[in-house]
Amino acid sequence: MSRLVVALDAPNRQTALEMARPLQGVVPWVKVGLELFTAEGPDLVGRLKKLGFQVFLDLKFFDIPNTVRGAVRSAGHAGADMCNIHVLGGERMAEAALAGRDESAPEMLLFGVTLLTSMTETDLPLDSGGAQASEIALRLAVSAKAYYLDGVVCSGLEVEGIKAATSDGLLCLTPGIRPDGAERADQRRVVTPAQAVQSGSDFLVVGRPITGSEHPDLAAKAIQGEMIRAAQKRRGES
Ligand code: C5P
Repeated sequence: MSRLVVALDAPNRQTALEMARPLQGVVPWVKVGLELFTAEGPDLVGRLKKLGFQVFLDLKFFDIPNTVRGAVRSAGHAGADMCNIHVLGGERMAEAALAGRDESAPEMLLFGVTLLTSMTETDLPLDSGGAQASEIALRLAVSAKAYYLDGVVCSGLEVEGIKAATSDGLLCLTPGIRPDGAERADQRRVVTPAQAVQSGSDFLVVGRPITGSEHPDLAAKAIQGEMIRAAQKRRGES
């Protein structure tokens, strides 16, 4: 069953809580990113947990193994239910991240960022040897599985390839979701909630189509309805 994660892209605690409150009891997961975490720190994670949310701490750690181990350990102590690292940090960094997770919150999900979906092969500061962005992302996802990460952050357009290449061995979390008719804003390669579920995505990250809506609870419910119908269709129930 795919789950909805609402991105609380806010500059401070007050705005984040205003975004979160209408979603209490409606949406299971929220995402705290770099801007909000840098402004407010780990206390906010605890506050969101008290409101009943599961929290994805989207800080994309990438540093020497010992530092990443400590950062993931701290994410676990803060109460995060999911956090992430860059797969490009390699096997030793991933091993250190897993060790940090085991030291604080063994049940916390640890995801890998493959190639940021904002980047193409031409944005890489190194020669990609002719490989396209999607191919690089796929190779990094295969590495993420070899490193025993729980899942990867990827474009909805990459889920089927990643699931096939890893024998369904990785969870996929996909941002860049837009219901039909919603503003794309700065997102480029978007998929609808139904398309993301049909391709096998496990977590759908949605921000502005919900947080920017006049009725965020209704917007979230509409997306979850679309997700349920797509899951039934995928299972051949209708
Ligand atoms: O408002 P919107 O639905 O575009 O928000 C998407 C969220 O997912 C934002 O928090 C954005 O930073 C994040 N994200 C993304 N693309 C990625 C990784 C994260 O849009 N590749």
